[in-house]
Amino acid sequence: MSAPLRSSRRAFLRNTTLALAASRFPLHAAADAASLDPSTLTPYVDPLPLPPLAKATGSKPSPHDPSALLPYYQIPMRERLVKVHRDLPPTRMWCFGDSFPGPTIETQSGHAVMVEWQNQLPAHHFLPIDHSLEGAGMGMPEVRAVVHLHGGRTPSESDGYPDNWTTPGQKQVCHYPVGQPAALLFYHDHAMGINRLNIYAGLQGFFIVRDPREDALHLPSGAYEIPLMISDRLLTRDGQLLYPVSPDPLHPWVPEVFGDAILANGKLLPFHEAEPRKYRLRLMNGSNGRFYRFAFSNRAPFQVIANDQGLLSAPVTVRRLPLAPAERADIVVDFSSFAGSKIELISDSFPILQFRIAAKGSPDNSQVPPVLLESDSRPAESTAIRTRRLTLDEKLDKVQQSMGMLLNNTPWKAPVTENPVLNTTEIWELVNLTEDSHPIHLHLVRFQILDRRPLDTFDYMAKQTLRFTGPAQPPEPLESGWKDTARADPGMITRILVPFEGYAGRYVWHCHILEHEDNEMMRPYEILPPPAR
Ligand code: C2O
Ligand code: CU
Ligand code: CU
Repeated sequence: MSAPLRSSRRAFLRNTTLALAASRFPLHAAADAASLDPSTLTPYVDPLPLPPLAKATGSKPSPHDPSALLPYYQIPMRERLVKVHRDLPPTRMWCFGDSFPGPTIETQSGHAVMVEWQNQLPAHHFLPIDHSLEGAGMGMPEVRAVVHLHGGRTPSESDGYPDNWTTPGQKQVCHYPVGQPAALLFYHDHAMGINRLNIYAGLQGFFIVRDPREDALHLPSGAYEIPLMISDRLLTRDGQLLYPVSPDPLHPWVPEVFGDAILANGKLLPFHEAEPRKYRLRLMNGSNGRFYRFAFSNRAPFQVIANDQGLLSAPVTVRRLPLAPAERADIVVDFSSFAGSKIELISDSFPILQFRIAAKGSPDNSQVPPVLLESDSRPAESTAIRTRRLTLDEKLDKVQQSMGMLLNNTPWKAPVTENPVLNTTEIWELVNLTEDSHPIHLHLVRFQILDRRPLDTFDYMAKQTLRFTGPAQPPEPLESGWKDTARADPGMITRILVPFEGYAGRYVWHCHILEHEDNEMMRPYEILPPPAR
């Protein structure tokens, strides 16, 4: 039985800096020799970049109310050279605008915006497409892109359905009503079968929603509020993106990618000049597959004040913050007792970003109130009208090699099976029968994690019987807010409570490990209009 071996290999991969060297899908020999060891670079020589703020280029009438003029943004996707580190040649990337992350779009809750996403990408891809994957066949254009606003309450036609891609020269116009509370959202490519490559190439950016309720709290703001997209990459010695491939040239897809170059807003090992005061760091895991455990090098405690979909009801003080791909968390860290020192943001043994704290700063009038959200709108579990049990499955070949993952053992192309009714609440039970943790994301909606409970997966696979092997565990306090992405841990049933609010129509749900998503760990779901009375 090779299962224990496989799981220890997985654990090793999660933690090692040279994951791919040991993987069953070793790097191409040539690429391996050419890969860069980031620890050979001088750290903390580049300032932390802050993505530019997107500017509307004009205004256009709302598609739903022609009397309302909405800010209109035009954002190109194009190839750019990006300096990742002072001592490396510029890196070829695919950017929104000119930067990675792309320009940050900012708006108030309920203030709709329109964005024209312009596909100005080159005719050929520079990363290894696997034409055997669903939607990426030989007949498909090589370069396809479709933009999705992650965490956005967006009508279906503007949500960026994976098949609705554009090719170079085309554009996609989206209407984002943003009828949702303040939160850190992000936009990214979602093209069927290649979004792991497009995002790895750089197609990702922030979208910040604000609201008066959050503004009234007087959290650290302006220069003291820093969005931080953390994403890992493998680089060649000359600073170019290296995306690993399997040994099979007809099926280059690999099940996991772990880079040892951890980028903060696109820079490798940058520094930030800070003042001895409170900062709000808005952390987002923008990696294809790496999970982080963020901490400060001096083990300083910090407060978690928000997660994916906005504020927690009260701050949670921790020293370490786990974040799966696509998860976000806002933390407030107080540097006031560290004047004159240097502190690194780290994840396990990886240094990421150095804060250089000045001896003196301007007065700090910001605060973190003990109550962040007055009314907790958390619905009762009993409001759910339906429970769906959905499995997360691994397809293995004869020698126990991963062929990919599925949701409910169902391929992408099969007809819709999940069809909740608009304005009803359901419980989704995610039964993880694999050996990996999968960050599961539902488009359009926000949800609460109810609990996670271990079960006997062999029993379940053999007889579909549910035998729990331990008590249900509540979510961690820092996961207690509204989420749009949640970890479904191996051998556990993760239960989420989902009010299906917003719009009827076709959406998707999927694992946010991009290699899994691109290989059919994604399913459509359809919100049905409420029955006419
Ligand atoms: Cu971050 Cu389907 O998305
Ligand atoms: Cu999404
Ligand atoms: Cu997954």
